[in-house]
Amino acid sequence: MPQTLAVQSHQAVCLITLQRPQALNALSTELLAELATELERCTHDDTIRAVVLTGSRKAFAAGADLNEMAERDLVGMLNDPRQAYWQRITGFAKPMIAAVNGYALGGGCELAMHADILIAGEEAQFGQPEINLGIMPGAGGTQRLLRAVGKSLAMQMVLSGEPISARRALEAGLVSEITPPELTVERALQIATTIASKAPLAVRLAKEALLKAQDLDLASGLRFERHAFTLLAGTADRNEGIRAFQEKRPARFNGQ
Ligand code: HXC
Repeated sequence: MPQTLAVQSHQAVCLITLQRPQALNALSTELLAELATELERCTHDDTIRAVVLTGSRKAFAAGADLNEMAERDLVGMLNDPRQAYWQRITGFAKPMIAAVNGYALGGGCELAMHADILIAGEEAQFGQPEINLGIMPGAGGTQRLLRAVGKSLAMQMVLSGEPISARRALEAGLVSEITPPELTVERALQIATTIASKAPLAVRLAKEALLKAQDLDLASGLRFERHAFTLLAGTADRNEGIRAFQEKRPARFNGQ
């Protein structure tokens, strides 16, 4: 039983709620380990097709646990087990939606950016305040943030440490929708449920292709897309999808 997470199944969607209210969901070693383990469980469970990750109304996550960080010197940081947990979280291949309310700061903002889709409550705040502590982001806050919001805003956020509002995050493309806070999780679950109803292999390859767009040059990305598209022609779900269209009925995908 995880101590720092609550896990609930909503049919094919797993809802994971960060639960360290005493520290605004600061990302302790224990929390990162439990999250990595839970996501791996979702990977191996064929009945789970998508994940929604959320926190509380006050905080999605207020960053790395600063009390733990205070105890680590340079050698401690180089041997930091949390880096391995971050790697395992990043490698999650099923669709993940972050439902963000309250503070998403530092590692919390970086964790939200690991998600494929971000939905935010109107009062959410996104920030990379590491500079205030004499450090800098270390889990994607320079790389993913710049790709998400562009150079100027990423520089402003990382170098000044000042957070942005949910509305600003929407305008900048960091989040795709904002909702009243009490509806954020519900909206994320709705989107996840829609995605969970699609052919899993197509979803998986489409996610992979979209992520490649951030890493590859256009020609290589288009080559990857064409290969993935062609590969799906060999799946039963592709035949079912087209047959269902012709027969004017909903498709029944089985992941084959
Ligand atoms: C440990 C934290 C914490 C954190 C909050 N708390 N953030 N504990 N690590 N990151 C604890 C507080 O100590 C306090 O505990 C309780 O949560 C409530 O927080 P308050 O500060 O009293 O709440 P509030 O006044 O509402 O202010 C909220 C806040 C502030 C603005 C979010 O807590 C804050 O600035 N937190 C730090 C945010 C931050 O700098 N994050 C970046 C960390 S570096 P007590 O016991 O006093 O009640 C990072 C690097 C990632 O993330 C690298 C990844 C590889």
